[in-house]
Amino acid sequence: MPPIADYKTILHEVLIPEERLQARITELGQSISRDYEGRDLLLVCILRGGILFLTDLMRKISIPHAVDFMAVSSYGAGARTSGGLVKIVMDLQTDIRGRHVLLVEDIVDTGHTISRVLDFLHIREPAQVDVCTLLDKHERREVQVPITYTGFQIPDKFVFGYGLDLDEYWRNLPFVAVAKTGV
Ligand code: IMP
Ligand code: MG
Repeated sequence: MPPIADYKTILHEVLIPEERLQARITELGQSISRDYEGRDLLLVCILRGGILFLTDLMRKISIPHAVDFMAVSSYGAGARTSGGLVKIVMDLQTDIRGRHVLLVEDIVDTGHTISRVLDFLHIREPAQVDVCTLLDKHERREVQVPITYTGFQIPDKFVFGYGLDLDEYWRNLPFVAVAKTGV
């Protein structure tokens, strides 16, 4: 599908403005810096939605840390949200055995994606794997997943911007927006 020329035509409302996002990310960075003090922290960004969150969050983390990336896809792509079948399409380059891993995700919705990633990583015997998600659509959860850090709880609405896409576009917006219904 070609991109819509102006995101305003599909915008219902700005749910989380830039200033609130950045203020919360600063708090999360401070908590993570405190909690992981003295541990060898590895941030693992889940592509592609987590990219803006990762790059802002890591600038607010004051302790030494490494970063790596994984990509996952939901079977039956084209769907706006994931279903139960999640495939790992790009693996980490880092050996995580004995490492303190923190997954950086854009949104936890049904929970299938994070659940699958956690199973996949646990086999490699890291010292620890925790989850940091910017957004949590709690009402939609189908599988329970442990989340250590949450930016914002949000209602069951389709959101885009700040890393989250609307049919692959508009990840660059500095705020989280709700799309008009029927878009
Ligand atoms: P889950 O597996 O259902 O928890 O879904 C997680 C993935 O679905 C996220 O990483 C997003 O890529 C996508 N997703 C879920 N809700 C939204 C949304 O409102 N906007 C954009 N992407 C979403
Ligand atoms: Mg995604």
